[in-house]
Amino acid sequence: MRIKNKYRKPTTFHCNAGGRCSTSAVVWSLVGCLVMLHLYSLARQKDGVRGELQLGMSHHPQFRELEAVEEENIQMPPPRKRSPRAAKRKPKRPTTIIDEFLDENSQLRNMFFPDHKTAIDPMKDAGNDSSYYHPGRIWLDTDGNPIQAHGGGILFDQKSKTYYWYGEYKDGPTYHAHKKGAARVDIIGVGCYSSKDLWTWKNEGIVLAAEETKETHDLYKSNVLERPKVIYNDKTGKFVMWMHIDDSNYTKASVGVAVSDYPTGPFDYLYSKRPHDFESRDMTIFKDDDGVAYLIYSSDDNSELHVGPLTADYLDVSNVMRRILVGQHREAPALFKHQGTYYMITSGCTGWAPNEALAHAADSIMGPWETMGNPCVGGNKMFRLTTFFAQSTFVVPVPGFPGSYIFMADRWNPADLRDSRYVWLPLIVGGPADQPLDYNFGFPLWSRVSIYWHRKWKLPQGWSGLK
Ligand code: GAL
Repeated sequence: MRIKNKYRKPTTFHCNAGGRCSTSAVVWSLVGCLVMLHLYSLARQKDGVRGELQLGMSHHPQFRELEAVEEENIQMPPPRKRSPRAAKRKPKRPTTIIDEFLDENSQLRNMFFPDHKTAIDPMKDAGNDSSYYHPGRIWLDTDGNPIQAHGGGILFDQKSKTYYWYGEYKDGPTYHAHKKGAARVDIIGVGCYSSKDLWTWKNEGIVLAAEETKETHDLYKSNVLERPKVIYNDKTGKFVMWMHIDDSNYTKASVGVAVSDYPTGPFDYLYSKRPHDFESRDMTIFKDDDGVAYLIYSSDDNSELHVGPLTADYLDVSNVMRRILVGQHREAPALFKHQGTYYMITSGCTGWAPNEALAHAADSIMGPWETMGNPCVGGNKMFRLTTFFAQSTFVVPVPGFPGSYIFMADRWNPADLRDSRYVWLPLIVGGPADQPLDYNFGFPLWSRVSIYWHRKWKLPQGWSGLK
């Protein structure tokens, strides 16, 4: 017979609901807690490394300057008078700041597109003004002409210790090829500029030129050549350019490939294709630390992105491809890597009109990719909701300052595309991401990506410049 010890505590607990929880339930809850704690500590560890780095950087006075929040105040102009007849025909909806941005006659025009008087001229802006970026202002090359490298990207050439900036050379008239089509400039070619300091740029000329006469050629002037990017292949010793190739209706939706022995070209145009047999519109390429390069492109009516490795010579895609950010309708991808994690900034799909940027992160470039939210900080709400009235194109690491980058974006001017401006701003990786994430039980495995608005800023002194 078992005698009950009245002082002995029962081995079951009474639950609030009046039910009884078994020992095994308690054990399982404990195991669950331990697993969660373990995952959390892993997340903290990963973040800790980044946190320390971030701490180190943000204690640096120059970094505090870059992270300082700069506010902007935009006064919307009073609504324009309309004739009573016009008002009757179509009741007016309130004018938005985007309408003002897109309106050539807006009173705010000079705020978005400051005139030539305020141009940055690295040949003259010496002394106190030296090295300052002024996002949105006209930026002159060493010959005193506005830089023409839109939708561009930067290559650092180890041999010559020189930066090369490639982009769309759009110095021609803007027109509409079709009544409802987007504003366009005929293809002129890919512009190339060289620099030692990322601020003073020398025009190296058009390194891949439009085709003037042969109408069936991909580069025939009435087609589309956008977002050219160049990487160097260490094995073949060639500079390889990838770009978006299209017809004027954007129905060809292909990528083009060109190659050169020199960063300054001339590049030989090889061919265009639909990668993996899919549409490809906005795109970029990314060369990883192990030398494997990837093509990332908007596909399936821009509803998703695709990512896949290039062949070893970088002249084609391999047959491996993953769909990422499916159903998110993102374009203008700009990719970078920080401490083993891949990050990407993308835009929404609204043509030349600005929209909200999003930051994404992944442990493997092939995905899965997670969306972390809007990386823009400062300005004001409208600045943040429009990526400072610009669209991502590339992210350049600042050598010597791990975790710090330059975010390169285009402030498109659809009324006069050649007068589109560059918005370069500091991008810093650090601190916990601020959106709930789908994976890892909601624990933030990624660091926050922040792009700070500045009317005027410069790279931290002592950045190693030439790696
Ligand atoms: C944007 C795209 C640009 C250009 C433009 C044409 O969505 O990012 O590169 O294609 O549309 O309207």
